[in-house]
Amino acid sequence: MAVDSGGNEKIPQSVTDFIPFARPFIGKEEEDAVLRVLRSGWLTTAAEALAFEDEFAARLNLTAEIPVKAAALNSATSGLHLALEACGVRAGDVVIVPSYTFAATAEAAVYLGADVAFVDCAPNSFLLDPAHFEKIARRLIEGKTAYESGGPTGRPRAVIPVHFGGLCVDMDAVNGIARRFGISVIEDAAHAFPAYTEAGFPAGTLGDAGVFSFYATKTLTTAEGGMLVSRNADIIKRVTLMRCHGIDRNVWNRYTSGKASWYYEVIEAGCKYNLPDILAAIGRVQLGRADDLLDKRKSIAACYDAAFSGDSRFSVPPSAAGDARHLYPLRLNPTLTGRVSRDDCISRLKEMGIGVSVHFIPLHTMPYYKKRYDLKAEDFPQAEDAYKRVISLPVWPGMTRGQVDRVIDSVLRLI
Ligand SMILES: Cc1ncc(COP(=O)(O)O)c(C=O)c1O
Repeated sequence: MAVDSGGNEKIPQSVTDFIPFARPFIGKEEEDAVLRVLRSGWLTTAAEALAFEDEFAARLNLTAEIPVKAAALNSATSGLHLALEACGVRAGDVVIVPSYTFAATAEAAVYLGADVAFVDCAPNSFLLDPAHFEKIARRLIEGKTAYESGGPTGRPRAVIPVHFGGLCVDMDAVNGIARRFGISVIEDAAHAFPAYTEAGFPAGTLGDAGVFSFYATKTLTTAEGGMLVSRNADIIKRVTLMRCHGIDRNVWNRYTSGKASWYYEVIEAGCKYNLPDILAAIGRVQLGRADDLLDKRKSIAACYDAAFSGDSRFSVPPSAAGDARHLYPLRLNPTLTGRVSRDDCISRLKEMGIGVSVHFIPLHTMPYYKKRYDLKAEDFPQAEDAYKRVISLPVWPGMTRGQVDRVIDSVLRLI
């Protein structure tokens, strides 16, 4: 790297030198797929979306169990909403979600008039703490507030474990507790395609339903989009109905079935959550690349692990064999933050041409939920600690070795 007159390493100035936090991996195949749909005369949900659903489900059906079926949607947020609705969540129920997640996980419950109870992270983890989940579920069942300090009351109806960063939650523990209390389990697998448990089962297939995100920064992207999967035929049927206005036949059927195309019946007040074919076509190509993209993220994460583990300034993120490595949340330890704050580290990295992010600002700190339930920081010590110390480094598959080295070099130069 060049040095300035004072002997300091020069910060890259040009836009092309900047390493963004995330960048989608899009090639000619995706471009060709979009053009094919644009030229076909049918842009919205039809054959491409149906094929994407089948191909996506096939990737998850690794065992001879009842197969999962998939429903393509316009976002994971829509999927969480429809999954909760299909599991019978209604006004006055409580949905239990980790505090350490994105807004979507909790707001889906609020759409249905339900209350939200937040669970802390397990120690030194970014994942939901099953012991805290159990404690909250028991308190709610006993008619108490979620926390000794207060919080929502009501019947716990569903829990949404989040496979944060692509690392699987202990689903045996979560399912066991949920079964005991009669609670539905919706996996938020927005970060977790493809991710696997220690026993090799795909994330998203272990609860009543699982929801994946295809937002632009995710491991598989369609720009915006999502997929709900379930082994429960009733859930898939309900979601398929509700994603398209509660109309008893889908638009594609209306124009291809040979029956009168103008006639339909609205049997529920549904939503408009379908995935257009242009986007599904991108998703089909990305699905074919999923293992290659995973390998690329894994090799970037391995470089970061090698550079930062054993350095007392940092704690590398916990990982396991089936981790999708969607994020690389590096914790800054007091030997570093005693001298430079986390926020200053982010500003300095930006000046050095490195885009980073923070996953996540815990939801119990967000004004809407904090005020609504009068939430106290002391009920979420692990999430509070993780949030104050974390920065997410770039792990997008198109990064060159030189870019990865520059990220490492810049982080090591923070003090
Ligand atoms: C954990 C988590 N759940 C859900 C979502 C929502 O995904 P989408 O943007 O596809 O609605 C996100 C998006 O970033 C997320 O990070």
